[in-house]
Amino acid sequence: MNSEKRIFLVKGDITLLEVDAIVNAANSSLLGDGGVDRAIHKSSGTELLNECKKLNGCPTGNAKITKGYDLPANWVIHTVGPIWQGGTANEDAMLKDCYMNSLSLAVENKIESIAFPAISTGVYNFPLERATKIAVSTVKFFLKTNISIKRVVFVCFGTKAYETYKNNI
Ligand code: APR
Repeated sequence: MNSEKRIFLVKGDITLLEVDAIVNAANSSLLGDGGVDRAIHKSSGTELLNECKKLNGCPTGNAKITKGYDLPANWVIHTVGPIWQGGTANEDAMLKDCYMNSLSLAVENKIESIAFPAISTGVYNFPLERATKIAVSTVKFFLKTNISIKRVVFVCFGTKAYETYKNNI
């Protein structure tokens, strides 16, 4: 099935999604903080933090996987987006790596449905439109050669993000 048919867009709270894996926009410590990271840790329970503590952090652009515990999702894929520094510090490539590495980890773990938040567009200040284009193009590129992923859901927490994704999908 072509990639466009496997990509979905919803507005809402990623912690409520019933997919195999949700992606967390974490920081390099993987010990939680604010934004979607806080929401995921709050909904999953303290066992998630205990597992994250054993992972020894995660470099920007990389991804690591844990169980989902009390979340509807069975897995959480933690990825660390780039902090926006004006666009001359390789931010685009690192953001692309977040999506590629999260999807590769999903395939390795036989995950068929995965939900992404708008990585780096909150606290990390990555311009929303630019990040959206990278997110959508990277997912489409990956799905072209990976048929095992059946469903990718972009979860937008607000109307602005939702409209931006809608105009770019
Ligand atoms: N469900 C879906 N999306 C959410 C949710 C939620 N419950 N909460 C926030 N978001 C959205 C934000 O609106 C934003 O569009 O997730 C996107 C990413 O924003 P952040 O969570 O701030 O993540 P990011 O910009 O990547 O910054 C990461 O923030 O939370 C800390 O520990 C995290 O230090 C790290 C940094």
